Amino acid sequence: PRVVVLISGGGTNLQALIDAQSHDELGGEIVAVVSNVADAYGLKRARDAGINAVALPHREYDSRDAFDGALIKVIERHEPDLVVLAGFMRILTPRFVQRFMGRMINIHPSLLPAYQGLHTHARALADGIDEHGCSVHFVTEELDGGPVAIQAVVKVNKDDTEETLKERVLSREHLIFPIAVRWFLEGRLRLQGDIATIDGQPL
Ligand code: GRF
Repeated sequence: PRVVVLISGGGTNLQALIDAQSHDELGGEIVAVVSNVADAYGLKRARDAGINAVALPHREYDSRDAFDGALIKVIERHEPDLVVLAGFMRILTPRFVQRFMGRMINIHPSLLPAYQGLHTHARALADGIDEHGCSVHFVTEELDGGPVAIQAVVKVNKDDTEETLKERVLSREHLIFPIAVRWFLEGRLRLQGDIATIDGQPL
């Protein structure tokens, strides 16, 4: 099975997927990495791993729809079974989401549905919550709102800063993302209507 990964930045989640693949634990092959930021360090990670690395600077397109159209073409050229958003910081058009509905997943640094959007760690700390974490979910038209596939819970410590909390959550992202990808590629994790299921059981 073929995976295309979309990134915008450092790509530590991408690296976790590359490492899983190198240990035959991904259940498929990352055939391309596409970034909307031309100098994203994640593109270097892809090149170092011998993976086709494509920069598609969104600033070169005069509309969100034109960018998404170009992005769809690049993705479909690689005939993916799964599109993975790994720190991809663009809001996708409904047309794009519909195109890959059911075979596109994202990682978000919170226990969805809590803390959709940005600055999740600072907001969690400001609210003084005890448990935070990360979520892999299917991408739907609702930003960070799709059915959740797998989560990891991270206890918030009294002396946590945004940095220490982010670091601990990120390490759990690197654990659950490769598992979610493998379960999808093995046909175990699916989107059935608006419910995520594993082995046919609703989550
Ligand atoms: C991660 O925190 C992820 O949850 C969020 O953006 C960050 C991406 O980090 N979507 P990286 O580029 O994978 O290191």
